[in-house]
Amino acid sequence: MTCTYLITGANRGLGLEFSRQLAARGDRVIAVVRREDAAGGVAALAARVVVAEVTDAAGVEALGREVAGEKVDVLINNAGVSSEGKTLAGVTAGEMERVFRVNSTAPLMVTRAALPALRAGGRRLVVNISSQLASIANNTGGSSYAYRASKCALNMLTTCLANEFRGEGLCFVAMHPGWVKTDMGGPQAPMTPEQSVGWMVKTIDGLSMAESGRFLNYDGKGLPW
Ligand SMILES: NC(=O)c1ccc[n+]([C@@H]2O[C@H](COP(=O)([O-])OP(=O)(O)OC[C@H]3O[C@@H](n4cnc5c(N)ncnc54)[C@H](OP(=O)(O)O)[C@@H]3O)[C@@H](O)[C@H]2O)c1
Repeated sequence: MTCTYLITGANRGLGLEFSRQLAARGDRVIAVVRREDAAGGVAALAARVVVAEVTDAAGVEALGREVAGEKVDVLINNAGVSSEGKTLAGVTAGEMERVFRVNSTAPLMVTRAALPALRAGGRRLVVNISSQLASIANNTGGSSYAYRASKCALNMLTTCLANEFRGEGLCFVAMHPGWVKTDMGGPQAPMTPEQSVGWMVKTIDGLSMAESGRFLNYDGKGLPW
């Protein structure tokens, strides 16, 4: 069955690879990019390109209006940033706020804006791209304060949404894509975007309400909070 995917950060990295793999198998991709002139290769793959800076309230509201008439099956909140200043000495209040705005607040606001389109869709699924660096249980290294904390907040928001909308059959998961060779992951990362997204698409295809509110690895295995 063909599905419609709404994907943020779709112009490069994992978002572009999601768009490529999903479009290649016949799914419909609505690609969210923050600058039309930087849409790059996704413009040729996507059924629609919508321009939105995900941290801009007016931009996200406009995104909601743009997709209001759509039946969106799956929203992938993929846009994200890493943080500068890895140590306590290096982190600043401004950096904490910048990273939280993109990695935590924006996925929540985009989800709210897309809710009517998600309710109209068949799968009613939201995948928040998180990171294993958000795991408190697995945090043995410290460092990357802003990034870890922002993705940890995203995980909490995922469980809040799962609980609030369980009765409506809306499913929310947080997913770690692996350590992947992208601009963010860097060249030393062991996985390619093709491998990571290949796994995630397979996992997403198999998700049901039973997994709502869970923190999953790319291969579908549960991760500790
Ligand atoms: N790569 C890894 O190893 C890894 C590991 C764990 C988790 N993740 C997560 O996976 C997701 C994708 O990462 P990636 O590796 O593909 O990163 P990437 O190559 O750096 O791409 C990030 C994407 O997010 C978009 N974006 C950033 N800030 C935005 C904003 N304010 N408004 C709209 N779009 C914005 C970027 O758009 P522009 O081109 O306009 O900047 C770009 O499309 C992120 O959430 C990341 O935290 C990645």
